[in-house]
Parts: sequence; C-alpha cells; structure tokens
Amino acid sequence: MRSIDYDTEQYQDYARGRALAQQQLHEWISAFEAVLPERRPLAGLDVGSGTGRFTPALAGAFGPVTGVEPSVRMREIAQKQSQHPGVRYLAGTAEDMPVPSGSADYALMFLSWHHVQHKPRAARELARVLKPGGRLLLRANFSDHHPRPWWLEYFPRGYEVDASLFQPLHEVIAMFTSVGWHVASFDTVTEPSSGTCGDMLDRLRLRTLSFFAQLSPDDLEAGFRQLEQAVAADPDAPAPVGGVWANTATPSLTARTIATTAGAPSSSPALTLPQSCRAEESWVTGGRGVTTK
Ligand SMILES: C[S@@+](CC[C@H](N)C(=O)[O-])C[C@H]1O[C@@H](n2cnc3c(N)ncnc32)[C@H](O)[C@@H]1O
Repeated sequence: MRSIDYDTEQYQDYARGRALAQQQLHEWISAFEAVLPERRPLAGLDVGSGTGRFTPALAGAFGPVTGVEPSVRMREIAQKQSQHPGVRYLAGTAEDMPVPSGSADYALMFLSWHHVQHKPRAARELARVLKPGGRLLLRANFSDHHPRPWWLEYFPRGYEVDASLFQPLHEVIAMFTSVGWHVASFDTVTEPSSGTCGDMLDRLRLRTLSFFAQLSPDDLEAGFRQLEQAVAADPDAPAPVGGVWANTATPSLTARTIATTAGAPSSSPALTLPQSCRAEESWVTGGRGVTTK
C-alpha cells in the first residue's frame, strides 16, 4: 500500500467525499451500542478520528470522547467542523496516545487500522489505555472478507487493488490475540444507501479513498471514464449495494460486527470488528468460530 499522508492529500475534501447520511451514522452508532456496556457515561477514544466523522455522534450517544489523530490538517478540520461539548481532539497515533493508562471504556478505530505502521505496538498501546475489560471496535476491511462496492468493477483490477490495502482477518486476529486480546461473536448491521449513483460519482471524483492513490494515472482515467459512462445511463438511480449494479430496489449495505461474547474474561481487553460487506457474503457463519481465549 502506498501510505497516505493526510497532511498533504485528501484532507481538503475528506469530509465531503466521505460524508455519511444521518441514517448511516445512526446504523453505525446502534451497532456500537449493541456491543458496549449499558452504563453511561462511557469514556471513549476515537483513534484515527480524522475530520471527526463519528466523534460528536459517539459523544452524544455514550459520553465524552477523545479523538486521537496524527494529521494536523485532519485535526484542524475536526476542531472546526465536528465540535461537541463532550469532544476534544488530541495529536497522537494508535501506537502512542497522550491519555492515561486504564482511562477509556472503549476505543473505536474506524478505517484507520490499515494506516497504522507498527501494529503490535498499537495493539499494546490500545490495551494500555483501556480499562480492564474495555472494548476495541475495530471497523476495518480484510483482504479475505472484502466488500465489493458496485463502482469498483469499473477500475482496472479494482477489487484486487482495493483488497490488497488490507490484512486478512486471521492475521489481524492472530496479532491481537498474541498480545493478550480476545475476539468474540459477530452481529449484522444494515447501512442504508449513500444516495444516488450520481451523488456517489461526485464523491468518488474527490478521491478521498486510499484506493485511488494506488492506481496509475492511466488506470484512474480509464476507471473514471467507464464509471461515468455507466452512471450517465441513470444518474438518479439509488447507489446499489454490493456489486449488483442493476439492483436498486432496496438500497442497503450489510455489514458485520464481531462482538464480545458472554463469558469472555472481563479483565482482558476485547476486540470487536465491525465489517462492511455484501449481504450475500456468509462470513457470519464462518466467523462464529473466531472467539478465542
Ligand atoms: C480513512 S481515515 C478515517 C478517519 C475516521 N476514522 C473516519 O472514519 O472518517 C484514516 C485516518 O487514520 C489516521 N491515521 C494514520 N495513521 C494512524 C495511526 N498510526 N494511528 C491512528 N490514526 C492514524 C489518518 O491520519 C486518517 O485521519
């Protein structure tokens, strides 16, 4: 993966390019709620908080949140555009967080794990900052359980390139468990459509996905040309789910969450892995065996 420097690329357009509809945000917050303790307030960390897409909503739902973000530019935008009385943003990385040990009930990493350079160090640091029995919600993609958004097929080797940005699930689990984490069960989240195909194309043109940074100029041009032709046929069609271009009747995206199981040791930190993928992928069944320790 060509690493992304969010201080020089993506930061200007990220909030627009990756904007979530209220309903999408609501679905994710509900998914997190389902795997977090019921008591309130919970002290939260949003690790790799970016422009604060989730941070205020986390604070509203669960209690005070510290957004930890290495990029100055992304943090500046979060501080301007994603304010909330229960939110503060600090400079830091998953490997090195400026917060006391045992101070957080949960940490969310939403699509930031694949950017972490020193993963075992980050896994140990995340365990340090969580209270005993605290939860990490690791919303990541995995090369072997990878969603196929409909637009990806228009880019040369799109799926292979996108999947290669991520580790296979077993590798993530092996690394976390080797430093004392346990992983538990799955749940399913339905994320509503992000709008029309035309809306989606406009957002994709902003190139606020690391995927685009991996493509050659020729492949980028060819991909956008083909995508534009396809969207021009019906730009107002709802953006379809999965890879099914024509299936626009009930737009929704199914995602999976691995949650902590009952009976998991309360003293060791727990890892949850909310995962976007196509409804027809059946890794819930395969994944139930993921519980360890
Ligand atoms: C795709 S963005 C996700 C931002 C936010 N979580 C969201 O969902 O909008 C990835 C973020 O991870 C941050 N990041 C990069 N390296 C990191 C690290 N080592 N620890 C924590 N965050 C990191 C980037 O600066 C960037 O803001």
